[in-house]
Amino acid sequence: MIVSTRTGSLTFAEVAPGKGMDVALARTPADVLRWIDASGLRGRGGAGFPTSLKWELAAKSPGALKYVICNADEGEPGTFKDRVILADFADLVFEGMTIAAYCIAARQGIVYLRAEYTYLRPHLEAVLARRREAHLLGKGIAGRAGFDFDIEIHMGSGSYVCGEETALIESLEGQRGEPRNRPPFPIDTGYLGNPTTVNNVETFAWAACILARGADWFKEYGTAKSTGHKLFSVSGDCQRPGVYEFPLGITIEAFLQEVGGEDAKAVQVGGAAGQCVPRGEFHRALAYEDIPTGGSIIVFGPQRDMLRVAANFLEFFIDESCGQCTPCREGTIKLLEGVKMLQRGQCSMDYLEELCSLGETMQLASKCGLGQTAPNTFLSIVSHFRDEILGRTAAWSPE
Ligand SMILES: Cc1cc2nc3c(=O)[nH]c(=O)nc-3n(C[C@H](O)[C@H](O)[C@H](O)COP(=O)(O)O)c2cc1C
Ligand code: SF4
Repeated sequence: MIVSTRTGSLTFAEVAPGKGMDVALARTPADVLRWIDASGLRGRGGAGFPTSLKWELAAKSPGALKYVICNADEGEPGTFKDRVILADFADLVFEGMTIAAYCIAARQGIVYLRAEYTYLRPHLEAVLARRREAHLLGKGIAGRAGFDFDIEIHMGSGSYVCGEETALIESLEGQRGEPRNRPPFPIDTGYLGNPTTVNNVETFAWAACILARGADWFKEYGTAKSTGHKLFSVSGDCQRPGVYEFPLGITIEAFLQEVGGEDAKAVQVGGAAGQCVPRGEFHRALAYEDIPTGGSIIVFGPQRDMLRVAANFLEFFIDESCGQCTPCREGTIKLLEGVKMLQRGQCSMDYLEELCSLGETMQLASKCGLGQTAPNTFLSIVSHFRDEILGRTAAWSPE
């Protein structure tokens, strides 16, 4: 089944708000965790960490104060699906957060909302107020003595790295938004040093749906390792950009037919931090076991200049690097210089090899996901579009 906002029918619209929580509260937290585990739900923020395992680890971690954080920072270039979920299905997101709180025994939830989504805040506050009135938040939720949980909204300030969960927590605590060393992980030492689960907006919404409709319903779609549907934000050189829902495991080829991008020469999967997949690999699948993604799909038509693409992403990473560690802070600048040399036709093969080796070092030695993924697109473009990027070196003569 393929549905999209184009047809106006995301699966979320078929799930009655409230049902998931009713089902969850009729069971023990351990049963709810088993239910989520049976569905195979994996984090929709990009890395695909099993949701039940994250919640179970946070549940087992000692501490009386625990937190549920909804990562609504959505800063990855080309991603805008969480915005749609928050605008149209906020109840499901808050329900998923409340179910997570029930599983891990948290008393406080926080939505870390992207600064650019400030306009969504009044709507989200209104949904929260309605839920409090209906005793779905607050003390003794749904008449259950001892189940106290509420959610507050915290605004981000427009920094991409604050989407990384430990930088997000630093920012919430009022510090500079810089990633922490891991371990310890947030499930042990998260917000204010307490066990914390950080999940993507879409992950919470699916968790509520899974409780409402069952693990088997969810698993009916997708692949064995990547169960269920996923939302994708589609932009670039295609006829029908927008937010789409597809079962995980869909091939890029089938995807492009749906969005009207059949003549694409490459597709950027996973935003600036993802990978650039050339036409020759369009048989590959959007799934955790093949090409994982948080949901950003940028289509590059035949006329796109791939060096311009690489330069654009590197400029973004230079702006957004927090500057804490050298491979990321200096490496992004060096790679951009290299791209500019290639654009001028002034980069020798030896130097290009050095740049690739620098990119690989950044992947290994950077402290957080930003620096680890910053060279991905550069490396993919060098590997898959060699003829195109070296074409300009014809007028250049080696020293
Ligand atoms: C630089 C960077 C930015 C990130 N931005 C986001 C984001 O905007 N939203 C998000 O859900 N995850 C983002 N992540 C991933 C989070 O660190 C974390 O893995 C995710 O929120 C976990 O949720 P999930 O298990 O539900 O996928 C980012 C990671 C990095 C390295
Ligand atoms: S990899 Fe980049 S963003 Fe991450 S900690 Fe290092 S400098 Fe900061």
